[in-house]
Amino acid sequence: MEAVLAALRAAAESTRLRLLLLLSRGELTVGDLTQILGQSQPRVSRHLKLLCEAGLLDRFREGNRVFYRLADHGSGREVARRLVELVPGHDALVMLDAERFAALTAARAEAAHAYFRRNAAQWDRIRSLYVDDREVERALCDLLPPGPGPGAARDLLDIGTGTGRMLELFAPRVERAVGIDLSREMLAVARVNLERARLGNCSVRQGDMYQLPLPGGSFDAVLLHQVLHYAERPAAVLAEAARVLRPGGRLIVIDFAPHEMEELRAEHEHRRLGFADGEIAGWLRVAGLEAGEVRHLPGSPLTVSIWPAYRPPADAEPFHTEMNAAGGIGTAAAAATAAVSASAIPPGL
Ligand SMILES: C[S@@+](CC[C@H](N)C(=O)[O-])C[C@H]1O[C@@H](n2cnc3c(N)ncnc32)[C@H](O)[C@@H]1O
Repeated sequence: MEAVLAALRAAAESTRLRLLLLLSRGELTVGDLTQILGQSQPRVSRHLKLLCEAGLLDRFREGNRVFYRLADHGSGREVARRLVELVPGHDALVMLDAERFAALTAARAEAAHAYFRRNAAQWDRIRSLYVDDREVERALCDLLPPGPGPGAARDLLDIGTGTGRMLELFAPRVERAVGIDLSREMLAVARVNLERARLGNCSVRQGDMYQLPLPGGSFDAVLLHQVLHYAERPAAVLAEAARVLRPGGRLIVIDFAPHEMEELRAEHEHRRLGFADGEIAGWLRVAGLEAGEVRHLPGSPLTVSIWPAYRPPADAEPFHTEMNAAGGIGTAAAAATAAVSASAIPPGL
């Protein structure tokens, strides 16, 4: 109860309530908020600090910029969302803030789209080499059914989210979806796409797939869609993905089957020319995951493979992973200490 009272006290001021409303629309920096509210930066920073301390906002750094957004966990999350719903949209100040927010995000969208346009040709070239994205997405939807019910996930992590396409696809099926990417330009495009689609349950962060800025066991579902071929150390990426999975959670890796298109290495920075099923299965096992049924979607000339895997439930019999046995790196492998019971595999895997 004390946490709820503290959150209510922190929100009970007009600028702070406006900040909550603005941040319910998207992730913004202090600079953005200063511009929209027309108040001094120290003042806005002070309000933001109070809202963060009360658990109503989350704060995270991306390079030299700090972003704020509504909290996505704890009692503050619920209080923030309910308060936002209570404020009438026709209030004059709220309308003014909304207009300024729209102008600011339109400028940001233009910058993001300029980046996207510069790279669109090479992305289109790669897309033309394999099956239609819609076919891949249909196959993925079978593996991540909407909740509630068997096989549904509460939260989803999309590693190497790029433009946030996977977040857009799965946001309606989960309570919370988070995208991680190393590239700030890609994250800017993703933010614009998520704001435009009004997907308030999605957020993106800058982070490295080798060292995710997330606690262990924090997601029901993790995706690696067309990202693994950029990895110098794919096994380490899978181990790190496994680390953030809850027991019983699933990882879905989507990438190319082995191919010989050297052009992708030379011109598109691919480190790996696809992956064999056995190779992926071995890495999944080392990461403490149980491999599911692989699907291949043949295209011309590239075949897209979908490798689902799941982390055994916590109450399964413990077992010794190869990585632990070898005394090797630990975080992910050490977390994966359960045996597999085929009956516990979620539907679709
Ligand atoms: C081909 S894009 C795929 C984007 C998205 N998954 C999709 O399918 O639409 C690959 C993405 O991986 C990201 N990436 C590459 N290396 C990364 C790393 N070490 N950590 C996080 N993201 C990375 C790139 O910035 C890029 O956005």
